[in-house]
Amino acid sequence: MTTDARSREATQNESTTDVVLGIDDVAVHYGGIKAVDGISFDITRGKIFGILGPNGSGKSTLLAAVTRLTPLTRGTLTFEGEPFAKVSAQKVAKLGIARTFQTVRLLPDLTVRENVALGADLGAEQGGMRELLLGRKALLNRSRDAVAEALERTGLTGLEDIRPGELSYGLQRRVEIARAIAMSPRLLLLDEPTAGMNKSEREDVTSLLKKLREEGLTQLLVEHDVQMMVDTCDTLIAMNFGVLIAQGKPQDVVREPSVQEAYLGKRGAQDARSQ
Ligand SMILES: Nc1ncnc2c1ncn2[C@@H]1O[C@H](COP(=O)(O)OP(=O)(O)OP(=O)(O)O)[C@@H](O)[C@H]1O
Ligand SMILES: [Mg+2]
Repeated sequence: MTTDARSREATQNESTTDVVLGIDDVAVHYGGIKAVDGISFDITRGKIFGILGPNGSGKSTLLAAVTRLTPLTRGTLTFEGEPFAKVSAQKVAKLGIARTFQTVRLLPDLTVRENVALGADLGAEQGGMRELLLGRKALLNRSRDAVAEALERTGLTGLEDIRPGELSYGLQRRVEIARAIAMSPRLLLLDEPTAGMNKSEREDVTSLLKKLREEGLTQLLVEHDVQMMVDTCDTLIAMNFGVLIAQGKPQDVVREPSVQEAYLGKRGAQDARSQ
């Protein structure tokens, strides 16, 4: 092989392995509602990729498509180069994709340790909820190290035996991130992880996501807080009515007239630009 051919092959390998999630012409229609309609982008390893968009623009639907909770109307999904649109929702965690939901979804009767252990088991080769039926002890024994590591990485060590209801809202959301981390994912999807938080709680989550990025975790982040997205993301897309209206560097995307109009309305965007 010539030097040229070898370096071309190396570049190709690098570019394919560098893409963790590939989304190509993905559409999700619910009857006449085009919740997502022809979205394409790639997420590069180790980056935080953000999605901004007004209510109802299709952000959560896109996350549901990636986690296979909703069928695709068309399009292809690849994870580390392998197509996975036909993989079931149950198997997505085992591929290495974890998510947090828009609203808190912790089991109130379980401790923090047990909630996080359920996440660890979802990512394991076998097990899952079955372990919970067999007994909490088996579940906890099996996932002890993964749970301890997830709690440590998310700053929750010491809160293992507390039930979610006794924690502040900010900490409950952090437990959800710990539960997802416990699956040892290579891609983490976060749907509005700071919704309903005060400023200091939001800053805490932002720091956590940046720390996870430093540790190499690739993230897809959905949020409404424009400043937070500019401060946190490496690349940003904006959606409106199910389609992509802007993509690029965060500070450029939020300045696009189409994005400002989607958020503020035409009049508000003109006022904002003239200030
Ligand atoms: N299961 C469903 N059946 C029918 N329509 C749906 C379904 N899920 C979502 N939709 C519709 O699809 C559109 C996109 O909704 P989606 O929840 O993805 O928006 P979003 O960008 O996450 O909004 P928000 O910022 O409010 O969370 C909306 O019009 C919504 O009503
Ligand atoms: Mg949503």
